Amino acid sequence: MCGIIGYIGTRDATPLLIEGLRRLEYRGYDSAGIAYLSEGRLKIQRAVGKLSSLEAVLSRDLSPSHLGIGHTRWATHGKPTEENAHPHRAGAIALIHNGIIENYRVLRDTLVASGRDFSSETDTEVIAHLIDRRYQTGVSFKQAVSETLTQIEGSFALCIICEDEPQQMIAVRRGSPLTIGMGSKEFFVASDVQAFVAQTSEAIFLDDGEMAHFSDNGVCFYDAEGRSQSKQATTLSHDQSFTGKGTFRHFMQKEIHEQSRAIMDTLFGRVSQQAEAVCPDDLIQAAPSLGKVDLARSRRILLVGCGTSWHSALIGKFFFEAIAGIPTEVDIASEFRYRNPPLSKGDLLIATSQSGETADTLAALREAQIKGVQTLAICNVVGSTLSREAGRVLYTRAGPEIAVASTKAFTTQLVAFFLLACFFGQTRKTLPVKLRKQLVRELLAIPHKIDILMAQEQAVATIAKQYFRCRDFLFLGRNLHYPVALEGALKLKEVSYIHAEGYPAGEMKHGPIALIDEHMPVVVIVPRDHVREKVISNIMEVKARDGKIIAVTHGDDAEAAALADAVISTPEVSPYLSPILTVIPLQMLAYHVALLRGSDIDQPRNLAKSVTVE
Ligand code: M6R
Repeated sequence: MCGIIGYIGTRDATPLLIEGLRRLEYRGYDSAGIAYLSEGRLKIQRAVGKLSSLEAVLSRDLSPSHLGIGHTRWATHGKPTEENAHPHRAGAIALIHNGIIENYRVLRDTLVASGRDFSSETDTEVIAHLIDRRYQTGVSFKQAVSETLTQIEGSFALCIICEDEPQQMIAVRRGSPLTIGMGSKEFFVASDVQAFVAQTSEAIFLDDGEMAHFSDNGVCFYDAEGRSQSKQATTLSHDQSFTGKGTFRHFMQKEIHEQSRAIMDTLFGRVSQQAEAVCPDDLIQAAPSLGKVDLARSRRILLVGCGTSWHSALIGKFFFEAIAGIPTEVDIASEFRYRNPPLSKGDLLIATSQSGETADTLAALREAQIKGVQTLAICNVVGSTLSREAGRVLYTRAGPEIAVASTKAFTTQLVAFFLLACFFGQTRKTLPVKLRKQLVRELLAIPHKIDILMAQEQAVATIAKQYFRCRDFLFLGRNLHYPVALEGALKLKEVSYIHAEGYPAGEMKHGPIALIDEHMPVVVIVPRDHVREKVISNIMEVKARDGKIIAVTHGDDAEAAALADAVISTPEVSPYLSPILTVIPLQMLAYHVALLRGSDIDQPRNLAKSVTVE
């Protein structure tokens, strides 16, 4: 939610800012802007819409600079207009912001009453005015920032420059993520490492409340109380670097196709082919100070996540209960926090997130930690706030996911949950050795089965052609495939803007069946397990009302094929692992429907990849 980048160094800042913004654009694309110091003057350029609109403006007027900040916006306070675009300026101060200032109304009223003029509707502009007001009293730039921080409430990552201080830049975070790129005689500030990883692989992650002050002397770090800190740089690995679309038209399509490789990476070093068992050593990374905690002995597991990560957690519940025999509850992260759930010492909270920066998921994690519960993160982005705060992390290793619609993050999360459940089952002896060996063998075969499934893309594209003009879709599944139905519906609505609902197939008769007529496509996941006959009955109920059935089957399924208007078959696999395969045709369907409708697939309207506000 909003991407921010700052640069101070010896190179020309603006091309580096623009390149950084390109890599952060997935975080918001309502407007973009930069501010830079050139010939002693602060210059600001902003444009509504995507970065390309800003670039068109910039090409007309750009002068060299060694200090600048840039922003790509996901609107919270105020419409996506040029006035509301960042950077915001007051006097000598210009700044960019990611987050929400909760007390901005009161602050703004006070500032207006003292004679300050506002040029935007944003919460951010109050910060620029507050800093400028302090700065005008004669205190240093850094002191003006520090004093202002005591007045603002809410979440923020800020990068601030001052017209009078061409050698200085200040970055500070509370709640929202911020990373420092350490180059040679140059520094970057960014919402995530993607923005600068092509320039330097040395990064420092700011912790909550910390400030970085860049000056002639390099960079100095301070904690929330203003005490000087020494911080260790992390060397970023190559697989954190941004790659292009390759031969694909969109990142979403590329990422759908990357799932076989991504799952191989998730499994790498974590499964012993000889012993046909899960190896714990490389499974969970823990902070050294945490000591050895036997997570497998947890009495109850609580899973939290948002969106797609919540859907994967719903499937994780099946794994933990069936394989490890551990009672498991799943919450949408934003609900968990406010329902004040009773927690106890034997609980383990697993927070799941692709980005590791989702505000609601972080809030749920912190809530559990306050109540003394053990925590673990299942996360994709290395070094993200969630992975650091959880203390223990199981990385999914999906690689950078750029498309706003999550695809490979979901399937790798499922593999991570499955590995963890098998490890817990192994340790607790709830997973019989014979079954464990069979499951591990099947798990290792998944990447190959995904490769086979990719050959179905043309067939899915043909089905999309038949249905892309429909107004509504229903997705039905039972048991492990109910969350897959939810995920299929979410993908379709995100990228095609078609109204879609995912439902447990057995629940259809309690309401949604009223929606069915000859215009309603119903995507049904037809399993091979104990609920198969029930699902076949649900198909009959849809057909009796003239609904159109698109069946996703396991292997060749003549019975389902005879009933359906269209069929997509997935390779046969153990029922536990089948969601990893059945979701892929649904991702493809969403992609091809969106393609035919001409929507902006990688950056759908109103969305942002990383939701860092509550
Ligand atoms: O980064 P996270 O996994 O925490 O993100 C959670 C949701 O915002 C995310 O899954 C969202 O629903 C996606 N756009 C789904 O495609």
